[in-house]
Amino acid sequence: MSHALSQKVLPKQAGALMSGTAKVTTYESTGGKTTQKFAQHNLSLIPAIKPGSIIHDNCAGSGTVSRLILSHQPDVKIHATDIDQPFLDALSSDAVTNSWPVETTNQRSEKTTFENDFFDYDITNIGVIFWTGAGLDGVKEVYRTLKPGGTALINCWQSITWMLPIMLVHKQFRGDVAFPAPPVNWTDGQQLKKVILEGGFKEEKLRLESQEVVSVIPEGEFRDWAEKTWAYLAGIGGWHQVDAERWDEEVDRLAEVLKQQPGTTIEGGNVSMKASQWIAVVEK
Ligand SMILES: C[S@@+](CC[C@H](N)C(=O)[O-])C[C@H]1O[C@@H](n2cnc3c(N)ncnc32)[C@H](O)[C@@H]1O
Repeated sequence: MSHALSQKVLPKQAGALMSGTAKVTTYESTGGKTTQKFAQHNLSLIPAIKPGSIIHDNCAGSGTVSRLILSHQPDVKIHATDIDQPFLDALSSDAVTNSWPVETTNQRSEKTTFENDFFDYDITNIGVIFWTGAGLDGVKEVYRTLKPGGTALINCWQSITWMLPIMLVHKQFRGDVAFPAPPVNWTDGQQLKKVILEGGFKEEKLRLESQEVVSVIPEGEFRDWAEKTWAYLAGIGGWHQVDAERWDEEVDRLAEVLKQQPGTTIEGGNVSMKASQWIAVVEK
């Protein structure tokens, strides 16, 4: 059994949803809906962005944060950085079309080319969990590049309704192959606080709170959402031969398990799933 499971092959079904620009739309129609809600809330926690501000959209993806800021304050300069080029391409193409003041560069958050004390704001929407040093290396760079008096917004997941179902379907179809756990646990907010303080910020300038959002999917689109979510997240556990062979069963099972979660409600033709974040609002 294990020899069939151990082949790391990208199933064509996942490939269709995850190659090039498809990956961007797959993300935006699944997890991106939730990160957008987080970003919207987090921007409401700080006073309105001042005109003329220089902003770092850090781990920008396709620009969730940039787009929200520009819808309220077009008179800014945004530097959007990420390491996933198709996402940056989607943002820079929209920036050109709409004449947005957004410059995209492909660079790691942990070591950027920006000068010391450069930004008025650094907004990292669901990025810290990916940084080396369990988040610390990127936080140090945020601290270095932020102006004294500048504001950083850094958030991480608290809980996500769909993560346990992904692991359950993984186990059911792939057997005892371990699903890699994140190297550190972010769920209680303590890791976020720890790296922010170790990164140079002062506790008296830090506000840490949690927030819950609900991702609402029309029932008619729910299987499609489950398939895209499987394509996006199941690969964390490595792709296996069984995924290509039993893709539709896996997706059907994921949709079924998702609907049974305590964080899920089905009402009025919609499936609603909870997700929550820890958000640090901190001044340098
Ligand atoms: C969950 S997405 C969030 C994207 C966007 N901020 C949003 O709110 O939708 C995380 C992003 O972090 C990027 N990323 C991961 N590790 C990174 C690193 N070390 N440096 C820069 N970007 C990174 C990924 O490529 C991905 O686009």
